Amino acid sequence: MEFSLVVAHDSERGIGRDGRIPWQIRGDMQRFRELTLKSGFTNVVIMGRGTWESLPKKHLEKRINLVVSRTLPKATPQITVCGSLEEAISFSEGIGKFSKLNVSAIGGVSIYAAAMNDLRFQRIYVTEVDGKFNCDKFLSEIPKDYELESRGRWVDECGIKFRYLTYERRK
Ligand SMILES: NC(=O)c1ccc[n+]([C@@H]2O[C@H](COP(=O)([O-])OP(=O)(O)OC[C@H]3O[C@@H](n4cnc5c(N)ncnc54)[C@H](OP(=O)(O)O)[C@@H]3O)[C@@H](O)[C@H]2O)c1
Repeated sequence: MEFSLVVAHDSERGIGRDGRIPWQIRGDMQRFRELTLKSGFTNVVIMGRGTWESLPKKHLEKRINLVVSRTLPKATPQITVCGSLEEAISFSEGIGKFSKLNVSAIGGVSIYAAAMNDLRFQRIYVTEVDGKFNCDKFLSEIPKDYELESRGRWVDECGIKFRYLTYERRK
């Protein structure tokens, strides 16, 4: 079972503004898809209710969508509602008994914070977007037990510069 965080943040560690992501980068969207939709795996995404509300289709295709909420009704055909991150992880582990599992925590603030502090989450895949985007939601500091495993070169897409970083939890 692989548990990771997938996040894009700006130079101030901002991740969102007014309930959405204030940039649109095709390269980042492609990487998000590759990381959360690995072939040969059952793919699970865990998100908070706010992130779920920000999704245009209210689910991500070909992935098991777990939405953490204390207020949403229990289930729809497209999502499973979990009362806590722990419940979402237990649900995932249940599926993982039967198949190879790729679990991605995809936001927002409190889901990322809780996942970073849960030892089952071994990797953080970051897209760092250059600049300040006036965000109102921020990623908390990455704990010291993660070390930088790789840092890609800056890429320019339509005037927005970004790069990929991968952190791995020290063994
Ligand atoms: N840049 C990125 O990579 C990225 C990724 C994801 C999201 N975003 C952005 O981030 C913003 C949304 O994030 P957010 O932090 O505002 O919201 P969020 O974390 O997605 O959702 C918050 C809600 O999730 C539920 N929740 C969170 N932690 C919980 C827990 N431990 N137990 C039970 N329920 C819990 C609660 O729902 P209830 O109130 O229903 O109980 C809470 O109100 C948007 O702007 C979005 O575009 C950016």
